[in-house]
Amino acid sequence: MPEPTDTPDSTDPTSDSNADADDFTVTPYAVDGEIDYEKLLERFGADPLTDEQSRRFPDHPMLRRRIFYAGRDVDRYLEAAESGASHAIVTGRGPSGPMHLGHVLPLYLAKRFQQETGATVYVPLSDDEKYLAKDQSFESIGEHTRDNLRDVLAVGFDPERTRIVIDTADADVIYPIAVRLARFLTPATVEAVYGEQDTVGLQFYPAVQATHLLLPQLVAGRQPTLVPIAVDQDPHVRVCRDVAAKEALPVDKPGALLGRFLPSLDGPGKMSSSGDAPSIELTADPETITETIRTHAYTGGRATLAAHREHGGDPTVDVPFQYLRFFFEPDDERLARIAADYRAGELLSGDLKDLTIDRITAFLADHQRRRAALGPLEAELEPYRLTDDERRRALDRAGIPASDRA
Ligand code: TRP
Repeated sequence: MPEPTDTPDSTDPTSDSNADADDFTVTPYAVDGEIDYEKLLERFGADPLTDEQSRRFPDHPMLRRRIFYAGRDVDRYLEAAESGASHAIVTGRGPSGPMHLGHVLPLYLAKRFQQETGATVYVPLSDDEKYLAKDQSFESIGEHTRDNLRDVLAVGFDPERTRIVIDTADADVIYPIAVRLARFLTPATVEAVYGEQDTVGLQFYPAVQATHLLLPQLVAGRQPTLVPIAVDQDPHVRVCRDVAAKEALPVDKPGALLGRFLPSLDGPGKMSSSGDAPSIELTADPETITETIRTHAYTGGRATLAAHREHGGDPTVDVPFQYLRFFFEPDDERLARIAADYRAGELLSGDLKDLTIDRITAFLADHQRRRAALGPLEAELEPYRLTDDERRRALDRAGIPASDRA
């Protein structure tokens, strides 16, 4: 069978695919403008998910509704998941601040996949990347790392099948592998994919994230690996696939499952912790959730009650409705009814907001209950850390001589 998903990954420094005239930017370090998600796939050289592919994943509203809408090498992952062969997921977190709703969606998706097909899940935390990319001290990044780890742990992954790695804390295994990969990465490629970087640290970082994406295979042998991420992280996958194709290491290219951004409360775009619109943090209490959504959520309602009753609202731009669609109303029929009632002017913006507030509050109450039940971080983390054996195997497969090891 030909490999239809093997579109050339466009890291060719001579290609001008990043320099087209569209007025939006999407890289791991800058998201700007009105994103055209379909055009982005052309730019990046990824494939839209087919209906068949979307059905073969464990059933999840984010796939049915194409929140995760595109991918790379998805079929190989699906075949392994269906046949019971080993398969892995890597989805990480850059600990630059408190986690909000948008950050946790891929983690809950990964957990579902793990429950349904037994996927091994790796969750890397790139504290090095965020130290380099954000204007923060190591101390502050360290605090966010510990805080974010509690959220990752609260998701409730199976410790037998889950590994959490932290770049600076697991440097004994990550650094030597990243160095091996860095040898295959030219500055021209890095610049073509990410644009100009502020420091040489960020120029090196793609080798670190490539290490994350290959880690399941280095620890446990070649296997289809899927990286479910918001589409801004695709450049990291592309770079990793390029390097993997150069046979730097005994691994196959990782695949990707690419997602849209949860809209920011004040309208379309990415939910951002750094922009103007407030985002809903995972630790938000019910009053904060209510107040934030009531005050800031952009609605598709009409200016007056009479106009709304007469003309109806527009769910496609209504942020509370979009939150239900993304994640918080899993039942398709109920979601369709909400949309219809809103269009008909029977459901008011305030009611739609309240419904969304209830759903988010219930979801976060569960998350927060699991988070609060965690004991001291070190002890909770222990069963999720790479074992000595796993570290040794990864370094062996990467061809790092034992004498060089810490
Ligand atoms: N770079 C990601 C971010 O800024 C975090 C991350 C690190 C990641 N390693 C990863 C995401 C591997 C997905 C897979 O958010």
